[in-house]
Formats: sequence, C-alpha cells, structure tokens
Amino acid sequence: MSSSVDQIKSKIDIVSLISSYIKLEKAGTNYKGRCPFHNEKTPSFFVSPDRGSYYCFGCQAKGDIFTFVQEFEGLDFIGSLKVLADQAGVVLESYNVGEKTEKQRLHSVLEQAVFFYQKKFSDNKEAQDYLKNRGVSEKTIKDFRIGFAPADWRELFDYLSGREIGEKDMLAVGLIKQKEGTTSYYDTFRGRIMFPINDSSGRPVGFSGRILVSDDKSPKYLNSPETVLFNKSEILFGLDKAKKDIRLRDYSILVEGQMDLIMLHQIGMTNAVASSGTALTPNHLIKLQRLSNNIKMFFDGDSAGFVASNRAGKIALSLGMDLKLVSMPEGKDPADLAREDVELLKSLLSDSKHIIDFYTDMLTTKGLDPRNLNYNLNMEIRKHVLPYVAQLANQIDKAHFIKSIMRKTFLNEEALWDDLKKIRPDSIVSTTGNTSSPPLKRIDEMERKIIGIIMWQKESSGKIEDLNILEIEQRIQNILGERAVGLEDKYKNDRDSLLFEVESYYGGKPSSNKEIEQLVSGFEEEHLKQRFASAMANLQRAEQKKDEVEIRKYLEECQDISKQINNIKNSYEK
Ligand code: UTP
Ligand code: MN
Repeated sequence: MSSSVDQIKSKIDIVSLISSYIKLEKAGTNYKGRCPFHNEKTPSFFVSPDRGSYYCFGCQAKGDIFTFVQEFEGLDFIGSLKVLADQAGVVLESYNVGEKTEKQRLHSVLEQAVFFYQKKFSDNKEAQDYLKNRGVSEKTIKDFRIGFAPADWRELFDYLSGREIGEKDMLAVGLIKQKEGTTSYYDTFRGRIMFPINDSSGRPVGFSGRILVSDDKSPKYLNSPETVLFNKSEILFGLDKAKKDIRLRDYSILVEGQMDLIMLHQIGMTNAVASSGTALTPNHLIKLQRLSNNIKMFFDGDSAGFVASNRAGKIALSLGMDLKLVSMPEGKDPADLAREDVELLKSLLSDSKHIIDFYTDMLTTKGLDPRNLNYNLNMEIRKHVLPYVAQLANQIDKAHFIKSIMRKTFLNEEALWDDLKKIRPDSIVSTTGNTSSPPLKRIDEMERKIIGIIMWQKESSGKIEDLNILEIEQRIQNILGERAVGLEDKYKNDRDSLLFEVESYYGGKPSSNKEIEQLVSGFEEEHLKQRFASAMANLQRAEQKKDEVEIRKYLEECQDISKQINNIKNSYEK
C-alpha cells in the first residue's frame, strides 16, 4: 500500500490541494491561510510545498495531504486514500483491510437502509404523489436518495436481519428501538418520507423522516438519535452537496427544514444547507465559515417578530462572520416559494440585509406607523439590536453599525455607545477544544527558535550560509550546562511546528549568521538575568541573616554575572 501512497503524494501538490478547500497566499517559501480546523481571523495556518506538509500555529493541526482530507472531509485513512487516488489518477491495488472498522460497518448498515427505503418509495404511490404535489422532481428524489419507511412495525428490521446485520448494529445507528423490558424490536421510522442525512463527504449517518399521513400525535419530523456517526452539533443537512458551491459563490444559504433545502437545491441554489430541527451550534457555523465567511439566513416568515435571542445570529457575529437575513412573506417558507415563485425568491435573496440593519429597519418602520403611539424606538433598539452590535468582535464594525443606527433612528450616538457598554456579549463557548496554550516566556521562545534553526539547518544544510551548527551547539551547551542534555529530544515531537516557525520568521531567505549569533547571545543574556535574579535573592537573604561569608559570596556572583551581561550588551554594539 505504501507504494500507492508515495505515488499519490508525488502527483498531488499539497498547495493546490489545500487551495481547493481554503484560500492560501504566499508567505516566503510557504503559503498561509486561515486555519480550516479552528476558528480564527488572522491566518496562522502554513503549508510547505517543499515538505508536503501543513501546520497551524493556532491549534497545532498538522500533517500531509492525507490527514488534511481526513480531517476536512471527516474520513478515515482509507477514505482519504480513495479520494486522493481518484484525484491523482492512481489505481489502488486491491488491498485487504481485514476487519472492517466499526464505523465502516455502521456506514454500511445505513447504506443498506437507504437502499431499502428507496425501494419502498418506488413501490409506494402515495409517497410518490405526496412529493410530486410538493413540487419535488424525480431528479431531486434520486439525488437526495429520498425514500419511504413503510407504516409497519418491523419491515426494515426483517430486511436487515435477512442480510446478516445484528440488532446491535441496527440499534447503534438508531434504526430500531427495543421494546422496554423485552427482547423485541421495532423500526424507529414508520410511515415516513425518509431523507438520508450525510456527513460532509456524502456518507449517510442518519435520517430525517417526515410523516406522510399526520396522526396528530406523532411529531411531523423525526430524526435519528445522536450516534457514533451522527453528531448533531456538527452535521448540517445538505453540506455534502453544498460545500463546493459555498466556496465558489462565497456564501452559504441557511434554512431550517429538509424540504426547504431540497427545494432550494432543485432550483439551483446549491449552496444551501439546513440545520434540520436542531439548534445551530458554534461547530455548525465554524464548518460553514471554513468554506465562506458569508451566510444568508432565511428568516422564518411564520415566527412573529424576531426571535428574542437569535442565538445562531449572535454566534455568527462573534465568529466574525457576515450574516445577512432574508425576509420571507408571512406564512411562506423557502420550499413554498421555490415551487411557486422562483423569481421572487431570488429577489428576496439579493435584498438580504445584514442582521443588524435588518432588525434596525424593521423597528424603525414599525415606529413610523401612526398606530403605534406608545412605541418607544429607543427601548426597542436597545432590546433587540444593540445585543447584536455587542456581539461584534471588531471595534470598527461596532462603530460602523452604531453610526448607521444613529442615522436611521435619529437616536443620540453617545447614548447608543453608553447603552452598548452596558450589554455583556453572550459568551460563545468554543467547542473546538483548541484552547491555545499560554504564551511562552521570552526565554523559552528563544530556546525554541534556536533549536528550530539547528533542526532547519541540519535538515538541509546550507540554508544559512556559513552557519556553524557545531559552534552554536557548543555555545548552547556552555549556557545551559547540564540542562543542554536531551534538549533536542525535548522538541522532537514539535519538529513540524519548529520548522514552520523558523521559516515564517526568516521568510525562507537564508538569514545572516550575525542575526543568529545575536539570537544566541540574547538567549545567553536572558539566562544570565535569571541567574542574576536568583543570586540577588540569595544576597538579600544573606544580608538579613547578617552572614558575612555568604554576603561576600553572592555579592561576587552578582558582580560577575553583571559583568558578563555587560559584555554581551557591548558585543551587540560592535
Ligand atoms: P416546520 O414545521 O417549519 O416544517 O419545521 P417544514 O420544514 O415547513 O416542513 P414541511 O414543509 O411541512 O414538510 C422546520 C423544521 O424543523 C424540524 C424539521 O427539520 C423541519 O424541517 N422539525 C419540525 C422537527 O425536527 N420535528 C418536528 O416535529 C417538526
Ligand atoms: Mn414547509
């Protein structure tokens, strides 16, 4: 297998691969961009074409083309191998993966369920008529692999059992349920139009089922439970089909429902995704942000006024995303308009407004209505608009919106700022798990840099002209004494980041020997300062004890160290 890996690596350039996912720009010999694996505003994600690897200074993500595709697409190694082999035009030799991994097995269970529901759909006239009446085309039904779950209790269970699938796996993906206190099972989804929910690489991870004939007691939509494959806070319905066009058009369209989503895709709005019944999480939005910073969100015409706390909106703003709202006529949803009036839908989309402008305009219009005599615009703005302004991370954006609110409402600018200061922004808990480590002390930073330079120079000598690595190593040893032992080992696991750090610092240009000498001298100086501080502390203690011998000893040490420090300082001026 390793030969295919090598072939693929030699055929796929890491910079073009990653560029097809995120925007990269040149930075010295490397390329940099905003990290797709954590949320950031300034780029700290670096790609080295020479080494075929990437590294993020923000979240320490690192790897090669395979790990990139694995992480970005949510695939395992074999999955990334297939994707990249395909791109490289490399034919994979048949390999024996032996035991399928648990996840692969579960994917295959869901895959077979998709097939079963599709088959049942093609046998069921009522289900077909239902979708036809709602304007869903045959192509859409096929593309989204829409199916039907029969109204019986155990049809899927029997079908999968007949294909050697055990109850345990069916339970694990949420397709069946166990009758309490018994060993009998029944299908989770019955009498429902079935929408497979895929992960971002298009593999089914769960289902959403819409009831075909309402019975007033079952929910209209039923979703698979959270499983090892179906992480509800991460999965967005339709993302597998939308990701390419979100990137291309540089915005995503966010809707609420399955039907809305498939209908938008049907009319060519193929950059739409749906939250499908679960509240939007920071993770959902971060996933979208990787593809584009801009979102247009359909504002449900049904919901009266605005959602008092449009949490998704606040999260998006605090991530620094540009969030626009699309207003819908009352009682209509995107699925209705996609069927009835595509032109109207398109014009609504292009009339979308930034969420803050949207709410401000809505409130000002309301205030102009002569029937609203007791309407207090000031209070409404404070209650419904300023919380969003407070959520903006960027001071310039805040100023921009305060100004625009002022112009639209004639409220006093200073008063707006005062009110704004009183609002505490919602804290958006980062669920990415990448809490950045505390900044390094200056001395540790220098140590890292020096070790990085040594590694860099050793990796491909001559990067820095005339640099004598042995000499530097000798000096470090003199400075650190015993502590120099095993220093390189300490940084072994950090190799990638060190190399990128050095490169980004020196911009890939061979740096002068002198600069590095000064770095080592600075390092020595910092060490001496540390030693000086501890000698001083000892001296003070000795003075308190009035121990003359000790006093003399530490005094001499202090003088000696300070002489050395001065020597170094003088050497800079040479
Ligand atoms: P809606 O009630 O607005 O339904 O719920 P809809 O999208 O217009 O559906 P249709 O057009 O009647 O088929 C919006 C979304 O909320 C979730 C579903 O994802 C739905 O698409 N939902 C709704 C549930 O999860 N459970 C429910 O019982 C109802
Ligand atoms: Mn609807």
